[in-house]
Amino acid sequence: MKLKKQIASALIALGASSMLLGLCSCGGSSEATTDADYSAEQVAEALYTVLFADRKMYASKIVNRLVKEDKVIKAHEEWKENKALLLPAQMFREGAETVDGMDKPFEFSYSLQSLWPLNMENAKKRTPAVMEGLAAVSDESSEFYGKKWTGEEVIGGQKYFVGVYPDRAVAPACWTCHNNHDNRQPDYPEFKKGDVMGGIVIRLPKS
Ligand code: HEC
Repeated sequence: MKLKKQIASALIALGASSMLLGLCSCGGSSEATTDADYSAEQVAEALYTVLFADRKMYASKIVNRLVKEDKVIKAHEEWKENKALLLPAQMFREGAETVDGMDKPFEFSYSLQSLWPLNMENAKKRTPAVMEGLAAVSDESSEFYGKKWTGEEVIGGQKYFVGVYPDRAVAPACWTCHNNHDNRQPDYPEFKKGDVMGGIVIRLPKS
């Protein structure tokens, strides 16, 4: 299948119709760019922009607006029992699990990870490559600190591209909730504004 179609299907799986429209405004002269071959790194980057934008918009235009500004609902880890909004990381994971269960042009996956996970279910998905990437983007002395890290790994005989994109403490809610959470382990850092708290991990098959 042509890579253009593969990317389009990958983005459909993410519900990214606006991004898709962007890719397919295929009138005449733009055909050359839309027919180009994209590397796994570029496909991952395209997925990342959509994931990042959705995460940011859910946090600001849904959670922050309704909880902090309009004060009409709470966001709660036990969201069902409390008739509350899902936390942003839970919303992200629900999306990732939905994508896991969908038919896709190739088996890509993504998750929100950290060297210091609050949810041990997230931690189970951390392969050695993911750990290396998380360490690289989270360590201030690393050349990848606060930037993307890319690598490869082989799972079940299949080679994968792995991209780790830093997830930062952008709002006081991030570090106040995480720093005081019951699930924090003894080595848990005291996060503050701007710290890299983890990363968005994207995995794509490579030939
Ligand atoms: C009200 C509490 C709360 C707030 C606010 C919050 N988080 Fe979280 N965060 C959690 C919980 C709980 C999890 C585990 C969610 C899950 O997957 O079940 C989590 C998961 C994560 C993870 C994945 C690794 C892990 O800990 O399992 C990252 C990275 C993360 N949050 C970063 C952030 C950032 C950055 C912000 C601010 C933009 C933020 N969080 C805001 C509670 C919170």
